[in-house]
Amino acid sequence: MSSPISGFSKLTKEEKIDWLANNYSADPENTKDILKKYWNADSKLQQLHDEFIENTITNFYLPLGVAPNFLINDRLLAIPMAIEESSVVAAASRAAKFWFDKGGFKAKVIGTEKVGQVHFIYIGNPEKLKAFFSELKPKLIASTGHLTGSMEKRGGGLLDIELRDKTSVLADYYQLHCAFETKDAMGANFINSCLEQLAKTLKEEAPNHSDFTESEKEIEIVMSILSNYVPNCLVRAEVSCPIEKLEIASSISPREFAQKIVRAVSIANVEPHRAVTHNKGIMNGVDAVVLATGNDFRAVEAGVHAYASKDGQYSSLTQASIEGNIFRFWIELPLALGTVGGLTSLHPLAKLSLEILQKPSAEELMQIVAVAGLAQNFAAVSALVTTGIQRGHMKMHLANILNQLGANEYEKKVLTDHFKENTVSHSTVVEGLQKLRQEN
Ligand code: MEV
Repeated sequence: MSSPISGFSKLTKEEKIDWLANNYSADPENTKDILKKYWNADSKLQQLHDEFIENTITNFYLPLGVAPNFLINDRLLAIPMAIEESSVVAAASRAAKFWFDKGGFKAKVIGTEKVGQVHFIYIGNPEKLKAFFSELKPKLIASTGHLTGSMEKRGGGLLDIELRDKTSVLADYYQLHCAFETKDAMGANFINSCLEQLAKTLKEEAPNHSDFTESEKEIEIVMSILSNYVPNCLVRAEVSCPIEKLEIASSISPREFAQKIVRAVSIANVEPHRAVTHNKGIMNGVDAVVLATGNDFRAVEAGVHAYASKDGQYSSLTQASIEGNIFRFWIELPLALGTVGGLTSLHPLAKLSLEILQKPSAEELMQIVAVAGLAQNFAAVSALVTTGIQRGHMKMHLANILNQLGANEYEKKVLTDHFKENTVSHSTVVEGLQKLRQEN
């Protein structure tokens, strides 16, 4: 085992690669070659990417695809998606086309409130803390004035601060629970800066409160941080149509198909094992757009899954109903997104993705992302309740295996035809290719 290295971050990129290849690779020259192959020839562009994180050694590509024909609130959009999983973009495109002539997708933002908390410990009389907080609240808000000015000009800012007594769940634990409006910014830096200022003011002002005993004046700030659980930053997207228009396959009538979708969703509503996979399919669409537009997909993932458990059991994010002759399918999910600041303006492809989406506001992007999730779920559940998903997956899987095996264009064509009627697996494709090569 090699010994720990100090000062690694100070090495040049080449030196870091040499160290890594020499210490952690069976074939150092090959490791160096692969890493350098992915450097961008444009040194300025490479430098931009190098500086996004620390200790960058190369770039890690994901495909950026586009799903056209999305009619959202009567606007026709092509949605950029960054994702490695085959068939996600194809499924989104299929769903977009299916709903295009049925009125498309309708989406609306229900709320845009973001949350941040100062977590602190106060050992003393809760009534005295409440009185102190009521007195201090205007001063707390005013103390963030130097941070909130430009956000307020854009119509956002710190909306409210609430003192929350959490001592029933943890001894002496209280919070300043704060609501923010951050308009087109995701707002993480803004929120965290405000929270740190609020914590400082709280700590500094406690000793001046004459009702407090000496020990009550010692408020201990534990941490100040935004919450990625944003149940009031919510968006809803929906599709609906008369049942007879749900012609999806000749093997199943439109009504039967609608009933099967409703049943599949009701299973995801009551069965967490299924709900997780159901929602994973939704996140295939959500994450791909979140990533393509330079937003924080980990924040979105954490918040969405927490929301899926809000009623005490992990459940489906989509719902489906049949009312009379109308089939309705909708999604509701929290999304804290930005279209200005952060990577959205730094990463050239994120910027371009936003341009392709016609420079949406954060609210418009919330709607687009929700639609991508709904479309993805519709495509997945439609396949699951009819043909099963393996047919579509295997088609894409076949293309990947053929590429891995170095098949030429002729071989790809012959084997793609062959596997229309035969089961795809890695070994059957290897065998098929070997046989074809022997024959020729
Ligand atoms: C695969 O990435 C996603 C699905 O499993 C989603 C689902 O089961 O609904 C197909």
